[in-house]
Amino acid sequence: MSDNSRRALITGITGQDGSYLAELLLAKGYQVHGLIRRASTFNTGRIEHLYQDPHDPDARLFLHYGDLTDSSRLVTLIEKIHPDEVYHLAAQSHVRVSFDEPEYTGNTTGVGTTRLLEAIRMVGVDCRFYQASSSEMFGATPPPQSEDTPFYPRSPYGAAKVYGYWIARNYREAHNLFAVNGILFNHESPRRGETFVTRKIARAAARIALGIDRNVYLGNLDAVRDWGYAPEYVEGMWRMLQADEPTDYVLATGTAYTVRDFVRFCFEHVNLDWEDHVRFDESYLRPTEVDSLIGDASKAHELLDWKAQTLPPELAKIMTQAELDGHAPSPGIHPIR
Ligand code: NAP
Ligand code: GDD
Repeated sequence: MSDNSRRALITGITGQDGSYLAELLLAKGYQVHGLIRRASTFNTGRIEHLYQDPHDPDARLFLHYGDLTDSSRLVTLIEKIHPDEVYHLAAQSHVRVSFDEPEYTGNTTGVGTTRLLEAIRMVGVDCRFYQASSSEMFGATPPPQSEDTPFYPRSPYGAAKVYGYWIARNYREAHNLFAVNGILFNHESPRRGETFVTRKIARAAARIALGIDRNVYLGNLDAVRDWGYAPEYVEGMWRMLQADEPTDYVLATGTAYTVRDFVRFCFEHVNLDWEDHVRFDESYLRPTEVDSLIGDASKAHELLDWKAQTLPPELAKIMTQAELDGHAPSPGIHPIR
C-alpha cells in the first residue's frame, strides 16, 4: 500500500459511474476505497477487472461493506479511511422505480447524503466532497438548463436529489466543507444499468439483429434527453474537486434528441427498421414525466476546461456494438425492464 498517495472514497463504486471513476483515480495514483452493499450474489461485475488482492503490498483498491441507511457504519468508515476526497455516487437512481419506492428513495438518495456529510463533520476529517446531483432536479423547468435554472422535480427521485443538492450546499456554507454539486445530465455507456432506456434499446437492437428476440416494448418515445458518454463525465467530477474554490457545475453535451431518435440510431447500426420492432407498453410511462432536458455546460467549459466529446449518434453506435460484441446476453428478470 502506497502510504503517501491521495485517498478517495467512492460510494456507489459498483455502479456505472463508480466503476469508471475508480479506473480514473487508480490511473492517477490514488488509493481508492469503495463502499459496497452486501448481497447474496456478487454485485462487483463492473469493477472485477480492477480487483486487487488486498494482501498484495501494491494493492490500491479496497472495498468495504456498508449502506447509506447505516449512519454508524459511515462514521466508522470515514474514521478508518480518512479520505482526502469523497465521491458520493450511491443512490437508488432509477426514476420509474422511485414512484414505487418513494420512501426508500428518499431515505437513500436524499437522507443518505446527510448521513455521509454528518459522518465527515463528526469525525472532523478535512476532505473534499462530490455530490452526484442530477438534471432530473430541473424536471418541468424548460430547457436550456444551467446552474442558475430553478428546480421543479417531477419524481420522488428528483425530489430526493434536490434535498441532497441543498444539504451539500448547506454543509459548504454552514461548516466550510469543500462540497461540490455536479449537476450531471444523462450519461451512458456499455456499463449502464440494463433498465435505463439507452442500454435497453441498444441491447434490444443487438438481440433482434442476432435473431434472439423479435420486439422490444418501450414507453414514451417523445421525451428529449441530453445523453453523454459516462467516462468523460467522471473526468469532470474529478476536475470539480481539484478546483481552487467549491462551486456547482452542470455537465452536459448541449444536444437534444428524443428517445425515438436514440432508437433509430441503434437500429440503423444493425441495418434494421426500428418501426418493425418497437412496441408500446404503457407500464413504462411515469405518473409525471420530464419532457425535455438540454444542458448548458458553459461554466464547466470555462472553469474546468471540460467539454463533452461523444454525442448521442456516436454513443448509440458504441453501446449497440458493445452488445453485439458481447452477443447481447439476456436483460435479466426485473419487474421493470
Ligand atoms: P447506478 O449505476 O445505478 O449505481 C448506483 C450505485 O449506488 C450502485 O453502486 C449501488 O450499489 C449503490 N447503492 C444503491 N443504494 C445503495 C445503498 N442503500 N447503500 C449503498 N450503496 C447503494 O448509478 P450511476 O448511473 O452510476 O449514477 C451514479 C450517481 O449519479 C447516482 O447517484 C445517480 O443518481 C447520479 N446521476 C446519474 C446520472 C446518469 O445519467 N447516470 C445522471 C445524473 C446523476 P449496487 O451495485 O449494490 O446496486
Ligand atoms: N427506463 C425506461 N424504460 N425509460 C423509458 C422507456 C423504457 O422502456 N421508454 C421510454 N422511456 C423514457 C422515460 O420515460 C424517460 O423520459 C427517458 O426514456 C429516459 O429514461 P431513463 O433512461 O430511465 O433515464 P431518466 O432520464 O429517467 O433518468 C436518468 O437520468 C437522470 C439524469 O437526468 C437516471 O440515470 C437518473 O439517475 C439520472 O439522475
